[in-house]
Amino acid sequence: RRGERSMAGHLRDRLPKGLLALLKRAGSLAKSMGYEAYVVGGFVRDLILGRPNLDLDLVVEGDGILFAEAMARELGGRVKSHHKFQTAAVLLHDGNRVDVATARLEYYEYPAALPTVELSSIKMDLYRRDFTINALAIHLSPERFGRLVDFFDAQRDLKDRMIRVLHSLSFVEDPTRILRAIRFEQRFHFKIGAQTERLIRNAIANQFVHKLSGPRVFHEMRHIMEDDRPLASIRRMDELKLLAAIHPDLALDPRKDEVLAEAERVITWYALLYVEPKPEVWRIYFLGLCAGMEDDQVQGVARRLGFSKHLEESFLALRHSIRNTAQQIFEWDYRRGLHSELYFLLKDLPLEGVLYLMARNPKETVQRSISLFLTTLRTLRVELAGADLKAMGLPPGPRYAQILRAVTAAMLDGKATCRAEQMALAKRMAEKDMGLEWMPGAAPTP
Ligand code: CTP
Repeated sequence: RRGERSMAGHLRDRLPKGLLALLKRAGSLAKSMGYEAYVVGGFVRDLILGRPNLDLDLVVEGDGILFAEAMARELGGRVKSHHKFQTAAVLLHDGNRVDVATARLEYYEYPAALPTVELSSIKMDLYRRDFTINALAIHLSPERFGRLVDFFDAQRDLKDRMIRVLHSLSFVEDPTRILRAIRFEQRFHFKIGAQTERLIRNAIANQFVHKLSGPRVFHEMRHIMEDDRPLASIRRMDELKLLAAIHPDLALDPRKDEVLAEAERVITWYALLYVEPKPEVWRIYFLGLCAGMEDDQVQGVARRLGFSKHLEESFLALRHSIRNTAQQIFEWDYRRGLHSELYFLLKDLPLEGVLYLMARNPKETVQRSISLFLTTLRTLRVELAGADLKAMGLPPGPRYAQILRAVTAAMLDGKATCRAEQMALAKRMAEKDMGLEWMPGAAPTP
């Protein structure tokens, strides 16, 4: 069987040294307890695809919780265990995290009369998983270290770039897998297999998605919007009629599609320019999905997806502030407008809102204005603070904010570009307030 292939070379060449050592120690430890341990799932998939993935999922044939506790003792760390599921997370002192699951032997005690087809517990564990490409494992015990376990021809699917379920009830068991299939398909530039796509269409037509709770759907949608190629995934969701199955108002129309495409362009542009601050991109895509909706429709979608009251309100508030700003940005004159005006229009809008505004208004001057704000104005700071006003003898109060705002405006409009000029301006304003006689060092000359 192809399952005999050794991944030792890949493990040695593609992993950070420390991680390889960790896997070896886990294997020896398992052996000393009379167990077999495997690393499974996305880690193995990504190792073969050559994509970095440091999320370690181990499966132990034996007692996973005991194993996790032994690991924490040996490597230094603590354990969070879930006895109900016989799983545990080992939180190592070096910051690494290892998830451990138990492959339960007792599950698979088949009647002796049956010919024993390779029913190892690892096989049963892998069989419960979503797609063939996620159902690979690698032996960790010293004798078999690095040997690949491939019961379902996952290597062929990785080579052919296919997403396939392991059995025809997969989406019935867990309809969130429909969203996962789409996410993996777009992330890896794979294709959902023909039979798997039929099962997806069937599950959607038979309203299996309706059975999913709001938070579960939302969690997966958010995942999609924060993974690679959200636009492609959203279009695929629409094509499979999944968006409409989640909520009828979510289905795409040409306007939404255009806004979403523009949103992806803007998000990519921004990410190339800045590492920080990072926008919560799902909010931007969600705004696009809700383009053209009335507030009560947005509320309907928010309820279906189980938004908390707080999230629903903040999302609606974001839409409102975008709407209130849009017209003014549209009217701001890119050539002659005061920079301070642009700054004060946008400064309190969350970054997601600013980027969405840009996506929603493909008019060139609007995009240039917002770009000017993001690249230049947003980060400029006056070289003067409240302490300076205090030193001038101005009593603290709301006047501080007004003066700082005026100095900021002057700076942005090129009228007070250095600290000396900013101080002079602040002083003039403070003096006007207080009357000259109160200014230290500004006593009226006889
Ligand atoms: N899994 C599943 N059904 C689900 C969710 C997860 O069968 N609805 C299985 C998959 O086999 C997956 C494993 O649980 O490999 C771990 O899930 P997760 O960490 O979400 O998956 P990864 O494949 O590691 O995905 P990602 O690369 O996005 O982290």
